Amino acid sequence: DDDEGNKPVSRLRRGQSEKANAFKAWALAQRKQVLNHGEPDHSMPNLLELKPKVVAIPKTAPALPPPPPEDVKKASFVAVERPIEMQTARLALPVVAEEQHIMEAINANDCVVICGETGSGKTTQVPQFLYEAGYGSPNTSTPGLIGVTQPRRVAAVSMASRVGEELGHGGKEKVSYQIRFEGTAGPNTAIKFMTDGILLRELSEDFLLRKYSAVIIDEAHERSINTDILIGVMSRVLKLRRELAEKDETKPLKLIIMSATLRVSDFTENQRLFPIAPPLLKVEARQHPVSIHFSRRTFSEYPEEVYKKVCKIHRRLPPGGILVFLTGQNEITHLLKRLRKAFPFKDERQGSNSTSAPPSMSAEDVESPLHVLPLYSLLPTKEQLRVFGGVPEGSRMCVLATNVAETSLTIPGIRYVVDCGRSKERNHDKTTGVQSFDIGWVSKASAAQRAGRSGRTGPGHCYRLYSSAVYERDFPEFAKPEILRMPIEGLVLQMKSMNIDTITNFPFPTAPDRLGLQKSERLLEYLGALDPKGALTELGRIMNFFPLSPRFSKILIIGQQHECLPYIIAIVAALSVGDVFILEHQLDIHGEAGDEDAPRNAGIAFEDTQRAKRRKEYYRAHRAFSSLDLTSDVLKLLSVVCAYEYEKDSTEFCESNFLRLKAMQETHKLRQQISKIVKINCPGVLNFFNPKLPPPSTVQVKALKQIIAAGFIDQVAIRADLLPNSPYKPSHNSAKRVTEVPYMTLFASATFQQDEDALLGPAVYIHPSSILASQSSHPEYLVYSELKKSASSTGKVRMKLLTPVTGVHLASLAKGTPLITYSKPLGHVPPKVLEDSMGRRRECWVIPRIGGAIG
Ligand code: CDP
Ligand code: MG
Repeated sequence: DDDEGNKPVSRLRRGQSEKANAFKAWALAQRKQVLNHGEPDHSMPNLLELKPKVVAIPKTAPALPPPPPEDVKKASFVAVERPIEMQTARLALPVVAEEQHIMEAINANDCVVICGETGSGKTTQVPQFLYEAGYGSPNTSTPGLIGVTQPRRVAAVSMASRVGEELGHGGKEKVSYQIRFEGTAGPNTAIKFMTDGILLRELSEDFLLRKYSAVIIDEAHERSINTDILIGVMSRVLKLRRELAEKDETKPLKLIIMSATLRVSDFTENQRLFPIAPPLLKVEARQHPVSIHFSRRTFSEYPEEVYKKVCKIHRRLPPGGILVFLTGQNEITHLLKRLRKAFPFKDERQGSNSTSAPPSMSAEDVESPLHVLPLYSLLPTKEQLRVFGGVPEGSRMCVLATNVAETSLTIPGIRYVVDCGRSKERNHDKTTGVQSFDIGWVSKASAAQRAGRSGRTGPGHCYRLYSSAVYERDFPEFAKPEILRMPIEGLVLQMKSMNIDTITNFPFPTAPDRLGLQKSERLLEYLGALDPKGALTELGRIMNFFPLSPRFSKILIIGQQHECLPYIIAIVAALSVGDVFILEHQLDIHGEAGDEDAPRNAGIAFEDTQRAKRRKEYYRAHRAFSSLDLTSDVLKLLSVVCAYEYEKDSTEFCESNFLRLKAMQETHKLRQQISKIVKINCPGVLNFFNPKLPPPSTVQVKALKQIIAAGFIDQVAIRADLLPNSPYKPSHNSAKRVTEVPYMTLFASATFQQDEDALLGPAVYIHPSSILASQSSHPEYLVYSELKKSASSTGKVRMKLLTPVTGVHLASLAKGTPLITYSKPLGHVPPKVLEDSMGRRRECWVIPRIGGAIG
């Protein structure tokens, strides 16, 4: 075991000479600490009183804006001089023909719903209609901002820049955007594009949204959780603003809901939401005809079919951009490499394989290059915006996209769409808490949207890589609203902070299911954010102050012991951003695509030696980061975040260590943001933000583990094979050369409790990305931050981001929380005598309980 412990240090010395000294110093210092104190300590004495220590945050009640001076003449419209070419392009948009209709409806109603095909000009034009009518400008009767929400960050950024251009001289200043870490708002801002999450946050600061005179909720058809809640909340805000306006205290607010589909009855015909149905304005699209070509067969190896189809289009069909819909980043990057290699630009061609080209090939025979661009949400914003950047002469554009390109962004010049018919959807099982990314068929509505992308500039073609029979039989009409698929505790906390106490009475466009709601309330109660009656506590109010999920806010608030707070901030920032590591299967470093999480088609093959080299580098990088503590993935994450800050060339650092630059940058910004909130609101707790942290002391490392465990105390897993009479055995996976140890989670144990002797219940396993996966000894208890169901046929559930805990520790953390009882011994937890429902007295072992499944 000592040998195991020594690996990181030797690897550091040998392999990392290219890294900046600072990082080595950091990693080595950590290593030394582990060495000086021998084996990592699993016993973890109960160091802490895990009580929240917070200085109260003052309630913010923004003052009313001063009433405008009486003598100012109110302008009723604002003149705009647009660049000539913009004006021409604008006049061709169907929405512009409806301007008068739209504005009349807005004047006569507080809420209006606009439906129009993607590309008809809703997002770019409607804010300008409002602006020209005087919204957002001082000295008019409606000086408040025009807010426009988007479900995706990339859309908020690109639309703000487009509208700024369209407004001509001075327009850039008038239009700003705000997304999680960036904002461009200034004193002259009239139109503000933002993500829907930003507006929700603003609502918990000022429920009346006094800053705004009009709010546009865009892409409502996507039914994101935030959009749904916004619409529910806004229906109340409209009413309050109307009442206050009648008392002359503020101006009424206008709400415009925009959708790319006509499926808006959840908004318009929902009496609880809008007692008087808002008018529905339809914008007739000037869509060119699109020919739809179904495949004769439905292929499961669709990436291969996509590749063939794109090659065929490029070789045989007239000019026009190609837009390909795929399900995720892996597929996109693999296909990107293949296509760039198949149709390279001239300079690339000479560089790589000019010698291998057949000598008979004349210049004219060489195929024209393909300008291949990726588009998915994890891609850096700048890269995403390249799709608007035009096409190099003599080449054809080919965009490989996820459903980002379905409705929020209209990419110019697309004539061919290749649709794989699938999408990756994040699902969350309410009973088990298991998250999974499932690839499934899109809805018929989505398929129609995808096809429509080819008919914007002229007649188009859509190639569907599935048969019409499958389409008819298996495709649902519409996608499920996100609120039915995702955990909602963050949402519940946010709503409680807005004084929405009885969530079941909230006018949801689609109500979340009862079990999910109950579980969220119980988790929040357990975290201390709600009292047993379901009312928001002081702690809950403070938790909502942080732009984090409630669990992470709780960790942050108890993280103030032993001067751990700066580390805890770094940890919760990285956990919130997620996806810091590029995972093994995304790298194509293994021989075959045999890995069960591997993409369906690994695409181009690496040279074997090259692959082996990469693989070695990959493992080396990962081991170096594990030196802080060999047992906790969360502490490994801390290592990464801290080492990054010591690095001068962060791009190089991320590349050589297989990290996602965008995630690291966001983590840095989030650390800054959280520190600022703590600094401002909790005086004396944190004086300044220094991203460069010294390695934590041994005491701190122990404390950190306990703090983390306290935040995940409802997510405990127990070694199943160590329970008395357990039928579970560790199994050896020879392909991966690891032993898989079965664990049971509280959820799995619920089944076990109902039928104790049968010891049923599905086991869960350690995720291969965990540092515990490759270790020979496995802790008896651990907390996990996520459960993921494997996409493969085995469907094994695996735990990610693990931290070990001890039985003693569990028992002490359980104090003051609702308890669950087990009739089997739980390690060192002392037994208690309890009465069961039949009045029999039995010895029990207690650990905290949470969730609805456990009786
Ligand atoms: O919101 P909707 O889908 O109805 O349309 P839009 O996003 O307002 O787009 C209207 C037109 O502006 C489309 O033809 C886009 O191609 C064009 N546009 C553009 O050329 N560049 C941008 N950055 C944004 C939009
Ligand atoms: Mg739009």
